[in-house]
Amino acid sequence: MKQFWDIKSVHQDKILLFRMGDFFEMFFDDAVKAAPVLGIALTQRNKKSQDETPMCGVPHHSIAGPINKLLAAGFKIAICDQLEDPKLAKGIVKRGVTRVLTPGMVYDSDTLDGTKPHYLVSLDSESLSFLDTTTGEAFFFRSKKTTELLRFLQILPVAEIVIAKEDESLLTGVDGVLISHHEDIADLLHPLLKNEAPMSAARLVSYVGNMSGEESLATISPFVMRDLEHRLEISSTTLRHLEVFSTYKGEGLGSLFHAINRTQTSAGSRLLRQWLSFPLRDLNAIEQRLSSVEFWRSHVLELKRVRQILGQMGDIERRLGKISQPQCNGRDLLALAGSVHAGISALEVLVHATGGQANFEGLRDLAYKIERTMVEDPPLATKQGYLIRNGVSPELDELIELSTNAQAMVSRMEAEEKEKTGISSLKIRYNNVFGYYIEITNSHKDKAPAHYQRKQTLTNAERYCTDELIELERKVLSANTKRADLEFEFFEALRKEILAQCPGLLALAHECSEVDVVASLAWLSLEEKYVRPKFSADGSLKMKASRHPVVEQTVKKNFVANDLELRQHSCLLLTGPNMAGKSTLMRQVALNAILAQMGSFVPCDEAEMPIFDAIFTRIGASDQLSEGLSTFMVEMTETSAMLKNATKDSLVILDEVGRGTSTFDGMCLAQSILEHLLSDVKALTFFATHYHELTSLDQSFGQITNAHMTVAERNGEIRFLHTLVKGPALKSYGVQVAELAGLPATVTKRAKSLLRDIESKRVQASSQLSLLDSLTSDEVYVEPVVVNVDPEAARVGEKMKSLMEELQKFPLMQTSPLDVMNQVAKWKEIVERV
Ligand SMILES: Nc1ncnc2c1ncn2[C@@H]1O[C@H](COP(=O)(O)OP(=O)(O)OP(=O)(O)O)[C@@H](O)[C@H]1O
Ligand SMILES: [Mg+2]
Repeated sequence: MKQFWDIKSVHQDKILLFRMGDFFEMFFDDAVKAAPVLGIALTQRNKKSQDETPMCGVPHHSIAGPINKLLAAGFKIAICDQLEDPKLAKGIVKRGVTRVLTPGMVYDSDTLDGTKPHYLVSLDSESLSFLDTTTGEAFFFRSKKTTELLRFLQILPVAEIVIAKEDESLLTGVDGVLISHHEDIADLLHPLLKNEAPMSAARLVSYVGNMSGEESLATISPFVMRDLEHRLEISSTTLRHLEVFSTYKGEGLGSLFHAINRTQTSAGSRLLRQWLSFPLRDLNAIEQRLSSVEFWRSHVLELKRVRQILGQMGDIERRLGKISQPQCNGRDLLALAGSVHAGISALEVLVHATGGQANFEGLRDLAYKIERTMVEDPPLATKQGYLIRNGVSPELDELIELSTNAQAMVSRMEAEEKEKTGISSLKIRYNNVFGYYIEITNSHKDKAPAHYQRKQTLTNAERYCTDELIELERKVLSANTKRADLEFEFFEALRKEILAQCPGLLALAHECSEVDVVASLAWLSLEEKYVRPKFSADGSLKMKASRHPVVEQTVKKNFVANDLELRQHSCLLLTGPNMAGKSTLMRQVALNAILAQMGSFVPCDEAEMPIFDAIFTRIGASDQLSEGLSTFMVEMTETSAMLKNATKDSLVILDEVGRGTSTFDGMCLAQSILEHLLSDVKALTFFATHYHELTSLDQSFGQITNAHMTVAERNGEIRFLHTLVKGPALKSYGVQVAELAGLPATVTKRAKSLLRDIESKRVQASSQLSLLDSLTSDEVYVEPVVVNVDPEAARVGEKMKSLMEELQKFPLMQTSPLDVMNQVAKWKEIVERV
């Protein structure tokens, strides 16, 4: 155990996987922590000697799964391997740590979700850097405002944050992510930092180099700066509200990304994710993407062809990430070659259609070389030979022949011995302990010649060797070993050659991803009948037959498309019953804007919209109880950020603001927020509310257009038409919706009677004091209007009220049964007349 402790003392913060024979073992605390994560038994090191050292282990050939489980559980890992062949070792086998892994670095990227990046992140006071070691993507943001940088930390998926101790205070409010301290930074002249990359990038380079070795940096692209200015600003909250990447339940299914993703490659879906996270603001850049989508739409045959080729392409970026690591195997190299062929063929389709030029022929040669070098179906092991083809080198050919012939020589000797001894069941076999041996079953052992030297006795057989066999073994083994060593040399040389061509390979991968995304958007637009959006110079928004990209795919033909038209700086004030489709309509406007600015066609028959600088949403109650904020507090914090940051070029969506508090407070807040948006911010605003009183604001603010979602009512039953109509809604139908939801009949009946009561009271009160009057005194410029009063309902309410009073006073116990019957008949008559 001394060797274990020597190594463990250097890697105390990690789980040490200690290679012993065919297993990686874990001991002491490491074993106690790892066993439940891996779902394996915790045992004692040596039961017989009462050694109680806890231990658990995993077979060395299937180590990738357990490593990924431990990383996903947030542990760091040190892999300690045998550094010499145990057979040749004198004394204890030399061991040492060959790799260190942390949750931000992955052992086998095949086990990751291909559509998501896996970022290591570093933050300092003026920059934020991202590095995905599995794909080679590296970029940074610069800003002196930490809050601005933290926004990106929340938008992008982060596996691990690497930070200097003195900068840790910058991370206030960031939780749920593994934080690792690393003080060193790489030399700023490092090739990955050549684009004036900041300190945070240098810290990541140093961290990865220290942990996994310089070679693992071979497949990383130099860090590039991401522009903060030219992006449509969408916060992580807005992305969540609009369910862009996952639904409220945290599922990918039902999100915008899931609904529009038609990419054929994992790298393509990662790029689509990036385009969705960073929609553009620059008209030319947007138009360029839209024109590319248009191009594929008008070349449907080529579109089908390119998608079919991309479907067979594989993931060059992640495969390269694997090839940079020592545990890669021959199959990785062949898979890369296949991907290179497919990638170049995909680009050729584009080149033929546009008449441009492809310049990746050098990579084709590399792919051919891989295929000429590796056997068709190489083994997983790389150090035991049988992976390099004949014809690669004369020296290797000779060894291959010798080792193959040696095999034949063994067979020949076996035949000769059978003949000489007359034992037909005699066999020459091989194992790691004895090498080659002759095996004779007990029934024939008397016939064994005298020169056979006994090596081992089994229950039913004897094992022997002969001088001749020992000589043969020496020849066979030396040919096999030499062959295996030489094959590994060729394999390593090829691996290095591939790594040397990394920049070209990554460039090919990027071009293919872009083709994949654009072609997928074209395919989507054809499948779902999307149109190319236009961008208005006057800030107006016009949508004909606009649809919600996700709901439309769920309800299919039943989706009701709506027309919308809004001037610059104006507001659509949406009222209408519950379930009528207010939230859906507002979200669809925002999602259409995101799609358009990312360069996609949109689900409309015609669309013209401004280029927004930002989208702000305040939708629903997002639960942040874990952060100690009440629902209403969250609502107000988000609204406050919106009012501070929105500009006249922003799109603002407020869904039932104020509903988290008492009716009066909520309504007054809603009105003052809306007024501020209209007079100071002047953003294009969509405002849905159940406070019908607000609909009269259109008298004071010409920018407001009242609209509602219609409902058809027959015999007290309601049907949602989901159609947008001008003008305020008259009724809420809240109780009817509750009925539809299956609330007990006694509850909804009681609610209806309470409603009638309140409404009749409000009719009486309206002539004396309005709600708004009472609250805002003479500052109120809104005429006191009581909407939502149905005179018919009020009349019924009055009658029912007097009836109930009579019923309450009725002296039931002092009245004869006949009189009770008569009275009930009278009441019945009254009710029927009502
Ligand atoms: N245009 C539409 N066509 C078809 N179905 C729709 C449409 N709009 C909404 N729906 C359906 O109606 C359901 C309710 O819509 P939504 O949540 O937008 O209503 P709402 O008016 O915001 O209700 P609430 O006031 O209760 O928040 C949606 O889940 C959707 O299935
Ligand atoms: Mg709603």
